Amino acid sequence: MEARATSTIGLIGNTPLVRLESLGTGLRSEIYVKLESANPGGSVKDRTALSMVREAERIGVLQPGATIVESSSGNTGIGLALIGALTGHPVIVVAADTTSQEKLAVLRSFNAEVVLTDWTAPAESPENARNIAARLAADIPGSWRPQQFDNPGNPRAHYASTGPEIWRQTSGSVTHLVASIGTGGTISGTGAFLKDRSRGAVKVIGADPFGSVYSGGEPGEILVDGVGNTWDRADWPKTFNPEVVDQFVRIPNDGVYSMVHRLATDEGLLLGPSSGLAVAAALQTARSAPAGSTIVAIAPDAGTNYLSKTFNVLWLAKNGITLEGGG
Ligand SMILES: Cc1ncc(COP(=O)(O)O)c(C=O)c1O
Repeated sequence: MEARATSTIGLIGNTPLVRLESLGTGLRSEIYVKLESANPGGSVKDRTALSMVREAERIGVLQPGATIVESSSGNTGIGLALIGALTGHPVIVVAADTTSQEKLAVLRSFNAEVVLTDWTAPAESPENARNIAARLAADIPGSWRPQQFDNPGNPRAHYASTGPEIWRQTSGSVTHLVASIGTGGTISGTGAFLKDRSRGAVKVIGADPFGSVYSGGEPGEILVDGVGNTWDRADWPKTFNPEVVDQFVRIPNDGVYSMVHRLATDEGLLLGPSSGLAVAAALQTARSAPAGSTIVAIAPDAGTNYLSKTFNVLWLAKNGITLEGGG
């Protein structure tokens, strides 16, 4: 990680990679976690937001001082709010009504306006987050919608930064990439870079939560913020390239949340649930991978954004989650 930068934007990327010690005991391979919480907005989405804003400014669709309107489960909104604050763009975020209070507070701290809606509202519903964002944008002259689910700048950010960082940090020894999938930008961009760089040798594993159709099966309630998808394949995000994924691993909610708690207690890593999902899938991958493999799991954000959910026994109980080993 850069020890010194001349601007906050210069702190985006170059996040640390840490080896799992305790959780990796007894494995014949090593698991590393890429800590995207080290970005100034606290998540992997700072990279995406920066890439999309820079490109929009470059091609002229985002003029100085114009408003940015985006639908986001939280982290992209935070990334855009951060960059909007630094570049003079007002930001409006349409967020899920299940977004944690902590993330909403962060959004507002960066001066974003927040509009809450039902994230499960179908594409044809006026309450659908993207439809609300479209209406808001139509009403605000000169406004711009990054549309992270369609914007090629999203996966491109990861092809240009996350992938090369992992290659460099592992001195080219990475054999597996494990990532969760929301827009698919992270796994598609990072996975494509690592496959290109390794001439196809790196295997890419998609970590999927219960209720998501990325790994097949019927759609259901997804209890892991920011990831998974309940839409038909025809409506999957343009930013997700399923061809990059060699294998999907589905992790039940109890396994995801038990892993998030173990990452905190056993490794001292306070991470969000999608990180628990990816690390649980990485451990599963390590059990069948050839000895000596180097497995990198992406940890998209920190647990501090979820203290009222993931680390709250009442929230866990209300959602029927049992921590394995009693937490
Ligand atoms: C907490 C969290 N984890 C993982 C992801 C998935 O990242 P991507 O959209 O690049 O697939 C997101 C996306 O918003 C997220 O908010």
